[in-house]
Amino acid sequence: MFSNAEIASRYLGDLVPNSFVPSRALAESTYESDGFDICRVPTSDTLRTFLLSEGEPDSEQASAARHELFELLRHYVDDGPGLLVLTGIPVDIDLAEAALLRLTSLLGEPLPQNREGLLVKKVRDRGTAIGEGARARYSDSRFGGNLHTDGVEAPLPAPEIFTLLCVRQSEQGGALQVVHVRDLVRALSEWPEVLETLREPFHFDRRGDQEPGESPTVRKPVLFMQRERQAIAYLRSYIELGHKHSSSPPLTDRQCRALDTLDRVVETLALTRVGKLREGELAIFDNLSLLHGRTEFRDNSTHTRLLLRTWIRLSD
Ligand SMILES: [Fe+2]
Repeated sequence: MFSNAEIASRYLGDLVPNSFVPSRALAESTYESDGFDICRVPTSDTLRTFLLSEGEPDSEQASAARHELFELLRHYVDDGPGLLVLTGIPVDIDLAEAALLRLTSLLGEPLPQNREGLLVKKVRDRGTAIGEGARARYSDSRFGGNLHTDGVEAPLPAPEIFTLLCVRQSEQGGALQVVHVRDLVRALSEWPEVLETLREPFHFDRRGDQEPGESPTVRKPVLFMQRERQAIAYLRSYIELGHKHSSSPPLTDRQCRALDTLDRVVETLALTRVGKLREGELAIFDNLSLLHGRTEFRDNSTHTRLLLRTWIRLSD
């Protein structure tokens, strides 16, 4: 077993392909630099016009915006760090929500984020703890850590993309941390039994999204293949809750060891890409490849953190 320091010395500093070209956007910025600078891109006039136009955009406008967005995604999401941050989106709540839905429609189909069919989730502190009660979620709390993918409470296929549009940011905390599955699998290749176990099914708690009479858990592996590539679905506390239901077997020692090893490697890799979304930034995440989490944040009377989120199934 390697220590965190040994894992770090082996794997840090080589997390993005060498050919990857950072964005030039932050050269003019007044913000402190952070780990998201390499994927920040100012929203172009073409994209902005499409996102903010009233009524139905014409098909030429939509096609130009789609072409531009997919070029950016290819560079930043598929071949880069798995994340694109568009800057300069309006933060008026109605405009922001409409712009986010319009961007989502360019990429594919918005997926419901709960049993009630919610398409745009307001991610903010609702005073709950992660996994509290039957339905509270990470996105309702202010706590940090617990790197995860979104939609783990739902059956596969997982949402391929999720977006976060920052309407308001906290003064303290709330920075995002991301870990790419390619770095994770490379680090875990030291422990073949761990990889093998993570490719076998676990019970994930459904967070109350099951229909009456359905199981309160969904059974699926942590590491799996989707769209012919390595993918990950993970949130440790939902797995632990899932295996506590009377209808599920308890976690085995082997499963616990695999999850502990995964957590230690994630904890180390999470130090390598940390960035804090700024008001008016719209982040697009590869949810099949990236684990993400945040540092604990605290609202105050002038800064109440609010992010808008969509989950997306890409068009074929
Ligand atoms: Fe999340």
